Amino acid sequence: MLYLFILPAVLMAPTLTEDQIRTARSMSPVPPPPSSPTNAMADDPAAALLGQSLFFEPGISGKGTTSCSSCHQPTLAFSDGRHVSTGAGVGIRNAPTLLGAAHQRWFFWDGRADSLWMQATHPIEDPLEMNAARGDVVQFIAHTPQLRRRYESLFGPIPELGALPAGLTPESEQWNSLTSTQQQSVNEIFVNLCKCLAAYERQLQPGDSDFDRWVASFESPDAGPALSDSAIRGFQLFTGDAGCWQCHFGPLLSDREFHDLGLPAPDGSPSTDPGRGEGYATLRASSFRADGPWSDAPESRAARRAAAARIGPEHWGAFRTPSLRNVALTAPYMHDGRFASIAEVLEFYNTLETQARRHHHAEDVLQPLNLNAAQLADLEAFLRSLSGAPPATHLLGPLQDTPPTAIPGDQIRHSTPPAATKGAPIHE
Ligand code: HEC
Ligand code: HEC
Repeated sequence: MLYLFILPAVLMAPTLTEDQIRTARSMSPVPPPPSSPTNAMADDPAAALLGQSLFFEPGISGKGTTSCSSCHQPTLAFSDGRHVSTGAGVGIRNAPTLLGAAHQRWFFWDGRADSLWMQATHPIEDPLEMNAARGDVVQFIAHTPQLRRRYESLFGPIPELGALPAGLTPESEQWNSLTSTQQQSVNEIFVNLCKCLAAYERQLQPGDSDFDRWVASFESPDAGPALSDSAIRGFQLFTGDAGCWQCHFGPLLSDREFHDLGLPAPDGSPSTDPGRGEGYATLRASSFRADGPWSDAPESRAARRAAAARIGPEHWGAFRTPSLRNVALTAPYMHDGRFASIAEVLEFYNTLETQARRHHHAEDVLQPLNLNAAQLADLEAFLRSLSGAPPATHLLGPLQDTPPTAIPGDQIRHSTPPAATKGAPIHE
């Protein structure tokens, strides 16, 4: 029986250590998202329905042509397949998946929002995304019967705002011609809509994947298809020698924090995108933050944590570790969509040849891995095992009972887009 002992290692099913079993269990299943005390509507089913209507509604964009779903497409795990997103203009960042987004504590690659509802305030008004004016969004809701009905059943009657001037934002000149009650109403309706969008997004959970079925099978060996040996070896590398686990851990495979991997600008020089270095300042300058006047729990722990965050020079050029759930569906990769395939991402981590250190504060956690082709294939097989079933079908499109049409003849305006400025995030 000597031949048993000379089988090449690759043919033997990988065996797991106690530690590896514990690690796998800490990654699966994905629990429900944490509570969101700053949003009183977070878990309200009626709010989620209004949020769903809004998510697929181009009428809330400046030109009436872009909805959230233009860049967060249900068939692409709510990403858009582009290097960087295009709405009213061409952006500078890649659209991340929304599956599991509600688990994050900082939103956007640079963390410039500290709640899911605050996040939604940005794309609606961003000149490169939906480029809408707050006043026009409010008018659109007021004049679209189904949306108005849903809104009023949640928040009470929309106050009579009179004829608001077109293109009304707090930055516009006409803003000061409103009474403070009118200003307050416009802001309040806008914030309420964003809280409903967040309620919808909280339902977008990553579905069970082969990886989850494998972990479940530890308890009941008949539970379903186990992972391929290659994916299991990939898991062992990922959580072991390859060191990915330092930043990609937990059910989302994200530490939910920021790191500078030293990805260079296209010409090879250090990138000029400040990432977290600017994101935090943008967050603090906005009144929509978790500890601000529009929050439903400004004193909550979550709100205080955001207020107490400390930003140092090491955050310049750092981006939030993305979730790797459904990563096979969300190409291209990284904050700027620079890598077309998982293989290209792995090549970067393996050699670090293209890495550009931008300053001496940059982390040097990453070391070239020097893995061979078979090991890289194992890592990729593991990453591919994280693709899960999509959310329930009824969440994947506009609500059937709310065709997104306005009353004919109503004076709904779509403001002419201002000259696109350089991705400047909108804040108050
Ligand atoms: C023009 C394309 C575009 C549109 C339209 C758009 N987004 Fe995004 N979305 C992006 C991009 C690009 C990012 C990443 C931007 C960044 O990090 O700077 C993003 C980020 C996000 C995030 C953060 C996810 C995370 O993990 O931090 C959420 C949530 C989100 N969008 C929801 C929405 C909602 C809700 C709407 C509609 C109100 C919307 N988006 C409209 C492109 C778009
Ligand atoms: C020091 C923390 C850290 C380590 C270690 C790390 N990553 Fe990452 N990973 C990140 C960050 C941060 C990003 C986003 C970087 C950016 O866009 O600038 C990222 C991006 C990715 C992406 C792209 C996902 C997407 O949706 O764009 C993949 C895939 C990935 N990492 C896999 C791995 C693998 C595999 C390993 C181990 C070989 C690894 N990571 C090690 C922090 C880390």
